[in-house]
Amino acid sequence: MADKPSYFITTPIYYVNAAPHLGTAYCTILADVQARFRRAAGYDVKFLTGMDEHGEKVAEAAATHDMTPQEWCDSQAPLFTNLWDTLEISNDDFIRTTEARQHHAVQYLWERMRESGYLYKGSYDGWYCVPEETYFTETQVEKADEERGTKGEHLCPDCGRPLERVQEESWFFKLSAFQDRLLKLYEEHPEFVQPTFRMNEVRSFVSGGLQDLSVSRTTFDWGIPVPFDDGHVTYVWFDALLNYMTAVGYSCDDEASRKEFAYRWPAQCHVVGKDIIRFHCVIWPAMLMAIQEALPESVFVHGFLTVRNAETGKAEKMSKSRGNAIAPQDVIDLLGVEGYRYYFMIDVTHGEDSAISFERMEQVYNADLANSWGNLVSRSLNMSAKYFDGKTPVLPEDWAEKDGVLKRVAEGMYARYAERMEAFDYAGAKDVVMELIHAANHYIEDSAPWAVAKDPERAGELVEIISSLLESIRISAHLLAPFMPTTSAEVLRRMSLEQEVDTEDLAAQCVWGGLASGVAVTKGEALFPRLATEKR
Ligand code: MSP
Repeated sequence: MADKPSYFITTPIYYVNAAPHLGTAYCTILADVQARFRRAAGYDVKFLTGMDEHGEKVAEAAATHDMTPQEWCDSQAPLFTNLWDTLEISNDDFIRTTEARQHHAVQYLWERMRESGYLYKGSYDGWYCVPEETYFTETQVEKADEERGTKGEHLCPDCGRPLERVQEESWFFKLSAFQDRLLKLYEEHPEFVQPTFRMNEVRSFVSGGLQDLSVSRTTFDWGIPVPFDDGHVTYVWFDALLNYMTAVGYSCDDEASRKEFAYRWPAQCHVVGKDIIRFHCVIWPAMLMAIQEALPESVFVHGFLTVRNAETGKAEKMSKSRGNAIAPQDVIDLLGVEGYRYYFMIDVTHGEDSAISFERMEQVYNADLANSWGNLVSRSLNMSAKYFDGKTPVLPEDWAEKDGVLKRVAEGMYARYAERMEAFDYAGAKDVVMELIHAANHYIEDSAPWAVAKDPERAGELVEIISSLLESIRISAHLLAPFMPTTSAEVLRRMSLEQEVDTEDLAAQCVWGGLASGVAVTKGEALFPRLATEKR
């Protein structure tokens, strides 16, 4: 526990019914960029991700592979952890709901729920979507079938797949009792659901009235047992949502866990996709209200990566079960890991859906990374090495105070960038950085250092030009680091600034004047070789 503000950010925990694809990786990178930015901005970050291993869907996947559910989950875990390593995900913890800590926390939750008075026993008779692990009432199903023209087929109102009829004894959570308190929460804390238009969606859903929720299953056994009722296992979402608290010590009695929980909870941000908004913005806060725990500060809801269906021409959510999933490796092969991270973070409006296109990926990579950022670094470092004997210029005392076109662009940039980053507007943050990168590239043309270098009388001018360029590069590398950590570290190293990698004071690093004087410069390989379109 450091002497810094805590920033606890989470991704959803992923179902282990299939290998991760671009869509699941997208959500994880989105949270990773925020976690990296917050660390650099001076927060003590805990970044949590993991796997959701219980439920019917996982049990079915295990059965099709002739494995026990636990064997299946164990076999899938490396697919996730290896991909997160490859994609430079900087999570501090990886939770699996089959771990003992989750078992303990969920059973503790049951006891607290029972004490709360918001739990009662009944029987559930209705529809269930296994792929979505979600209940639907007769009325919801009929209405959706009617609208879709599939009357009598009983298809899932959300994903359109066939539903299962479920009749079983069950424990219920009195969700209906929380309507007023939830509406009050949304009213008093409009920042609870972001972006704003998602908040409107949540508010109108809750205004329409809430049904109590069946939270235990009896026709099925792959779940955490209900401690006071044999034969009942926990409904997978009741289990999964709790992971966020389990990971910071909830339910543990030892001193260290209690301290950790007090320090880390509530979370600052849950990053989730729009399909699971009701679980996070309605059910989860109601559960927490029932057991009198603090509510997370915000839920950031992103859209889907979509793929065009060749037959219908319509954009569809990318998913393994729809058979339209693209493997992350295909994009890594094209753009490299850092190009991949950059593209998905800055070319997608994070609240909205976004269609995948390899053409667009190449365009953005070539324009921003090869031609702008990579080119600026390579030209500037080459010139510095050439004109200053393999080094950065020896800087006059007052060089940083001197007015200059690039210094002016850089001034005030951090505040604008940070505001965009905090709002998950990564495209906006990137635009701020690109102002400096573009200005620096223009400055090279305008100031023509190659001509200045020919005239010994203009030596001072040459120092000024090259130092401004290197200083712009130094600041840009810092600001791009949450997106492309390895490239930024490499750029700083090439200017002998390795001590600045992994900064915890980004605002201070962005003040003009941090360049090191007369130190070695490494030209190095091209950071982002231009893509020839035929490479695909
Ligand atoms: N296990 C639950 C989450 C429990 S959190 C307490 C779950 N798992 S999931 O594997 O189906 O989905 C996890 C996340 O991946 C969701 O936020 C979902 O929106 C996201 N995505 C899955 N496919 C996606 C796209 N095609 N595009 C963007 N995100 C997508 O739900």
